[in-house]
Amino acid sequence: MQPRDLSTLSAYTPGKGVAEVAREVGIDPAALITLSSNENPHGPSPAATEEIETAATEVHRYPKQSHVELTEALAQKWDVLPKQIWLSPGADGAIDYLSRAFLNPGETVAVPEPGFSYYDMSTQYHHGSLTTYELTKGEDFTQDPDAIRSQIDESRILHITSPHNPSGSEMPHNDLKRLLSTVDNKTLVAVDEAYGEYSHQPSAINLVTDHTNIAVLRTFSKAYGLAGLRIGYAVVPEEWADAYEKINTPFAANEVACRAAREALADTAHLEQSVETARWAREYYRDELPVPVWPSGGNFVLCDVGDGTAIAEAALNEGIIIRDTTSFGLPGCVRLSCGTREESRKAVAVLSDILDSTSPMQQVSGSSSA
Ligand SMILES: Cc1ncc(COP(=O)(O)O)c(C=O)c1O
Repeated sequence: MQPRDLSTLSAYTPGKGVAEVAREVGIDPAALITLSSNENPHGPSPAATEEIETAATEVHRYPKQSHVELTEALAQKWDVLPKQIWLSPGADGAIDYLSRAFLNPGETVAVPEPGFSYYDMSTQYHHGSLTTYELTKGEDFTQDPDAIRSQIDESRILHITSPHNPSGSEMPHNDLKRLLSTVDNKTLVAVDEAYGEYSHQPSAINLVTDHTNIAVLRTFSKAYGLAGLRIGYAVVPEEWADAYEKINTPFAANEVACRAAREALADTAHLEQSVETARWAREYYRDELPVPVWPSGGNFVLCDVGDGTAIAEAALNEGIIIRDTTSFGLPGCVRLSCGTREESRKAVAVLSDILDSTSPMQQVSGSSSA
């Protein structure tokens, strides 16, 4: 007995975790600084933590009321109908829900290259076929709607990531509007705003009322600090919002996650602090690191270091976990998440030492103006 032919699928490459690295390098886990997975260095909102504790004694029940309440809170926040909120296990789950709802076998899905790999995985799980559009280092990963359109023929789903992982580039709101007005109405434009809270751009959610071919993805994993609970959502147009009932895995948005997310949503002070720290850190990285660093709308930056694997390895040996972007097709770069002010300062000091001691020949930065 064997599964179906999975040879064209690749496993997801996560950023390295603390326990794994501590074992590898022989360092006390408490001394490690983790800047590899774009998590919230402030942790979850205290109100969310308290709710998690309360919910713990009630997890023998299926999540019903908690799902309704989180959905309603999000609908109110975004001024849409509750049915337009598709709760999911992380934004990853929302990507799957869109694939389920839209893809017929063999239909094409357009994804950015480099880009977030779960778009590819979800497409393949749902028997779709992939096509890519390039965001190039030489053009600072600019997300130009015309350049994107010129690289793809018809596609059933077009994934846009803004802010983009791993570069941090954004598609300005007016460009997104232009893209929407020019794509075929059979193409769903899926705008991934996993890092939307950190951006200064308006959310694409305000386009969902006037367009039927857009869905916007959001998550509680980043600015709300709930990555371990797996809770996210898509905001979809009213016209096809009822499809959720048919494609949602029953109770996939779990009780603890729904309740914690509702509390996190209400804790605006925690959100503001998280966003403010990230905005500070991404500018600090750009000002202080002795290599080109691209502007970022997210809680991370992409740095042009010459040899990403070597620099990430050297940082690891100094207790700083950063992301070698070779698996994104960017072997010359590393991605560095925004830490607390203290963590970010330490990361800059360590990386600067490493980079200063690396031969300049190894730090050739190509044509980028980062
Ligand atoms: C662009 C992008 N979209 C979606 C996700 C998935 O987030 P979640 O934890 O909500 O599944 C990530 C996670 O890093 C991401 O970078």
